Order: sequence, then C-alpha cells, then structure tokens
Amino acid sequence: MAAGLQVTLARLAGLLLSLFVLPCAEGGKVLVLPMEGSHWLSMRDVVQVLHTRGHQAVVVVPEVNIHFKKEDFFTMITYAVPYTQDEYIHLLKCGVPLIFAKQHFLKTFAESMTIMKNVSAFYESCCVELLHNKTLISHLNSSSFDVVLTDPVNPCGAVLAKYLNIPTVNFLRFLPCGLDSEATQCPDPPSYIPRLLTMNSDHMTFLQRVKNMLYHLPMMYICHVTLTPIVNLASELFQRDVSLKYILSHGSVWLFRGDFVLDYPKPLMPNMVFIGGINCAHRKPLPQVCIGVFVQPMFLAEYSPKEDLFN
Ligand SMILES: *[C@@H]1O[C@H](CO)[C@@H](O)[C@H](O)[C@H]1NC(C)=O
Ligand SMILES: *[C@@H]1O[C@H](CO)[C@@H](O)[C@H](O)[C@H]1NC(C)=O
Ligand SMILES: *[C@@H]1O[C@H](CO)[C@@H](O)[C@H](O)[C@H]1NC(C)=O
Repeated sequence: MAAGLQVTLARLAGLLLSLFVLPCAEGGKVLVLPMEGSHWLSMRDVVQVLHTRGHQAVVVVPEVNIHFKKEDFFTMITYAVPYTQDEYIHLLKCGVPLIFAKQHFLKTFAESMTIMKNVSAFYESCCVELLHNKTLISHLNSSSFDVVLTDPVNPCGAVLAKYLNIPTVNFLRFLPCGLDSEATQCPDPPSYIPRLLTMNSDHMTFLQRVKNMLYHLPMMYICHVTLTPIVNLASELFQRDVSLKYILSHGSVWLFRGDFVLDYPKPLMPNMVFIGGINCAHRKPLPQVCIGVFVQPMFLAEYSPKEDLFN
C-alpha cells in the first residue's frame, strides 16, 4: 500500500514537473489555490511532497477559514474578506439541522438551496476580493509561477489561473453536473455512465437510464444557481461572456482522487489521472467497534445468500 502510494505520488510529482518550463533542474514555483475542508487535507500532502522535492509552493487563501494553517513547507498569503470567522462558521453549520429534519423533501430542497446560495455568495465574495486586489494580483503575476494547483470545486482558482495564463493542474474528487467531462471533452453519456447518488450501476435497465437522465435536471438547477455568480465575475474580468467549461478547459492535467475500485469504469481523456490511493496516506486500522458494527452485518448480508447457493 505504502509502495503504491509512493508510486502514485512519484507519478503525480512527475506530472507537475513535466509542466515546468525551466531550463535546468531547479525547483519549480507552484501557486496553490485550494478548497476548504477535507479537500485541503490530501492537497496539503501533495504540497508537502512537492516541497521535499525542492519546489516552492505559495498557498493563497481567504483570511476567514477553518483548515488552513501556516506550515513550514509552504508560504501562505491570505486576503481579507467581508465576513467574520463567526459568520462563516454560522454559515457552514446552517445545513446540519436539515440532515435530520423530518419534513417534505421539497421544503428540505428549498431550504438547502437558500443555504447553498448563501455559501456560494461567500465564495463569490472571496473571489471578488482576490481578483479585484490589484496589489496581490500583480504580485502573483510578477512571481512567475510555473504551475497552478487548484481544486476546481471552487472555480475561483481556475479563473485566476486563466487570467494569469499559468498552466493548471486540477486536483479533485469530481465536479457536479459533469463539468469535468465537459471541460475535458470526455464522453459522458447518461445512458451508460451512472450518475452519483442515483444508486445506478454501469449496467442499467431502461428505467434506470431514465432516472439517470432525470437526476441531471435538479443538479443542473443547483449548478446554475451556485456557479452563475463566479461565471459572471469571470465574464466581467475577461470582458466577454465566458462559460465555466471555457475556464475549466484551461486545465492541463486533471488529478482525480478516485479509483476504479470505488467508481464504475467510464471513459477518460489522456490528461485525466486517477490517484485515489492518495486518500489513504494517513490510514489507520479500523477500530474494533467499527468493524463489529458495520463490516460484519454487511458481510453477512452480502455473502450468506451466495454461500447458501454453493451449499
Ligand atoms: C490585497 O491583498 C494584500 C495581501 O494579502 C493585503 O495586504 C491588502 O490589504 C489587500 N488590498 C486590498 C485593497 O484589499
Ligand atoms: C442567508 O443570507 C441571508 C442574507 O444575507 C440571511 O438573511 C439569511 O439568514 C441567510 N440564511 C441562512 C440559512 O444562512
Ligand atoms: C502579467 O504580466 C504580464 C507581463 O508583465 C502582462 O503582460 C500581463 O498583462 C499581466 N497580467 C495581469 C493579469 O496583470
């Protein structure tokens, strides 16, 4: 497992290196625009490995955040945002009661939309503060970064990379609404590729395919509502109408924190690389209680009928 991870990391560092246009084997300069939460945990490991290989990383994050802490293996630049830490934490906690709410699903959907709009307003305002900060932008522009490493789930990093015209490595689990496939021009037919949360597999009946198609509609609405502010901001920046597909298609390499052990097989483009093993960098043995409660019943439910067949 550790050897597998090392190989994965070596490949990843190789990919990042291959983008560097330096004449000799000096370390490269990486501009990191991460996403908050668990997204940062595995990206942080990548930044650490890049540092051990002699590359310099500059991590740019909003001043109001939960997970970004100063470390000795990167330089952190923060920018001010018009929210306080308490407002931000309140915003993140708003959704929790909805998970346990016993009410009509339409009401839950409407309330989730309000929260998502508020959260996307927060990220939009962070992006405005970053992109409109002339001092910071010109500092980043003159720092001659070789590559941008970003999580496109918050497309602000992709917008900035395109604006500064720096090759980009996208680091993600997946993007909603098939935006990753659109941006990489990768085939993604809903009649063959199961959509997340549908519980469909890669072998679908006609009705499951219909479900797969219908599932797309509310997702498109959610993506439209939550991503339009960033698209408008980008259009204002580039002084013409741009789409998210246009911005994301600037990405040179897409590193997916997925694996075909977990995910169903699907078409890929040559610049899409699966690096799911990176999620196991800090693995711990499962506690006994966990094994007892979850694994055994699942094991029994899954395997008893088959054992019966063989008996
Ligand atoms: C721009 O960002 C820099 C660096 O984070 C910060 O010191 C400065 O106050 C910001 N300027 C404005 C106008 O927000
Ligand atoms: C969303 O934002 C609005 C306006 O800023 C605020 O009045 C409302 O309480 C917020 N709702 C939630 C659920 O955070
Ligand atoms: C970055 O610097 C280059 C060269 O100095 C300049 O042509 C370009 O307009 C700058 N880009 C931004 C976004 O400031």
